[in-house]
Amino acid sequence: MDFNGEKCLVAYFSRKGNNYVNGNIMNIAVGNTEVAANMIQEITGCDVFHIEAVNEYPKDYMEATTVAQKEQHENARPELTCHVKDMDSYNVIFLGYPNWWGTMPMPVFTFLEEYDFSGKTIIPFCTHEGSGMGHSESDIKKLCPNANVLKGLPIRGGSVNGAKNDISSWLQK
Ligand SMILES: Cc1cc2nc3c(=O)[nH]c(=O)nc-3n(C[C@H](O)[C@H](O)[C@H](O)COP(=O)(O)O)c2cc1C
Repeated sequence: MDFNGEKCLVAYFSRKGNNYVNGNIMNIAVGNTEVAANMIQEITGCDVFHIEAVNEYPKDYMEATTVAQKEQHENARPELTCHVKDMDSYNVIFLGYPNWWGTMPMPVFTFLEEYDFSGKTIIPFCTHEGSGMGHSESDIKKLCPNANVLKGLPIRGGSVNGAKNDISSWLQK
């Protein structure tokens, strides 16, 4: 589907289960980034792609943080369950992820290395519990040096359900 005349894709990673929300551990049925990705899809009509690792992350929050930290230290590239059929056809990619230890979850690194983003525009959005975008934007630029990486939108995970207006005005820019 077109957005401002560009064929665009919303690609996101999100983990449901126990998460740290506004200082408490809560069980969430739909991940925060997935909620934001669905809002972008509704507003723009873009296609959607869910970035998922073959090895699921633990539902338990503390266990998930341990696995995620280990993967980050190892600079791992977790295998993904599925792939975008025709990435060449998209000009604009909205890239969504939760902030994990200051940057993107490692499956998003796998995703970014899997395709040639030269000449495409990547627009990041990130849900977090206080760290904003972290250093994710510079990591995206390193992984996709020939893409045009725009400034991202950080969304507080615990407030994502009320973020549609902010997302809408960010998209208009
Ligand atoms: C493994 C892991 C690491 C996290 N690290 C951070 C962090 O460094 N900074 C931060 O602000 N939030 C951190 N969080 C909180 C998430 O970014 C936040 O809850 C996000 O909205 C989760 O999105 P999701 O439900 O789409 O997975 C972390 C959460 C997990 C599970």
